[in-house]
Amino acid sequence: MFLLSLVKYKSILDIKTLDIPAHKITSIVGESGSGKTTLLRLLNKLISCDTGDIYYNNILINTIDSIKLRRDVIMLPQSPAIFSGSIKDNLLIGLKYSEKPIVTDDKLNEVLELVHLNKNLSSDADKLSGGEKQRLALARVILLQPEVLLLDEPSSALDEDTEHLIIEALVDYTVANNKTLIMVTHSKKIAAQFSDYIIEIKNGKIISQGEVK
Ligand SMILES: Nc1ncnc2c1ncn2[C@@H]1O[C@H](COP(=O)(O)OP(=O)(O)OP(=O)(O)O)[C@@H](O)[C@H]1O
Ligand SMILES: [Mg+2]
Repeated sequence: MFLLSLVKYKSILDIKTLDIPAHKITSIVGESGSGKTTLLRLLNKLISCDTGDIYYNNILINTIDSIKLRRDVIMLPQSPAIFSGSIKDNLLIGLKYSEKPIVTDDKLNEVLELVHLNKNLSSDADKLSGGEKQRLALARVILLQPEVLLLDEPSSALDEDTEHLIIEALVDYTVANNKTLIMVTHSKKIAAQFSDYIIEIKNGKIISQGEVK
């Protein structure tokens, strides 16, 4: 799905070759500052590499319109924004910005259930805990139904049990809907348990990539 060849970005990333499979769960692991977030940002053209080529479905990413690409490939940042207003407002804002049709409250509740956020749509989003806000932001991204979900540590603010539930739900969702999930995680345990493919980065270089046996 994504193919990177001789990609360099500042002195941060230096990737000889990287192949991220379609319709699979891929985890990106590596120590803090190794370049994981930077890699995700390259994949949806929030930044562009200085040298090298990145292909999305065999098309050079430079030749794809950024807006069009980001309809397909959506990134959930490491610290997602939550706006003041209700949970419903926060869910609908993503659809509004991407000019997608508004959905019913039933659909919104369904997505909240998927991320195990047991709250009313009318509740104040500001009052949610850090981990709840993280799940709300995740629900907002899922509502957009992108082909590729780029998740930057989607479970970093969660306790181990909730993290397990959320990642499991995400994996089920990805498989059931034939999507592609690419996530950064600090947890080698989560990566080993849930991924089809693991990429390990160290100091901006890929030190391993491959299928999970
Ligand atoms: N725009 C930028 N300009 C200069 N340096 C940057 C820029 N963005 C990131 N960096 C640096 O590049 C390195 C990699 O950053 P990145 O955010 O990709 O790391 P990470 O692996 O996601 O780390 P973490 O696990 O802490 O989130 C860091 O040293 C960071 O300070
Ligand atoms: Mg990061």
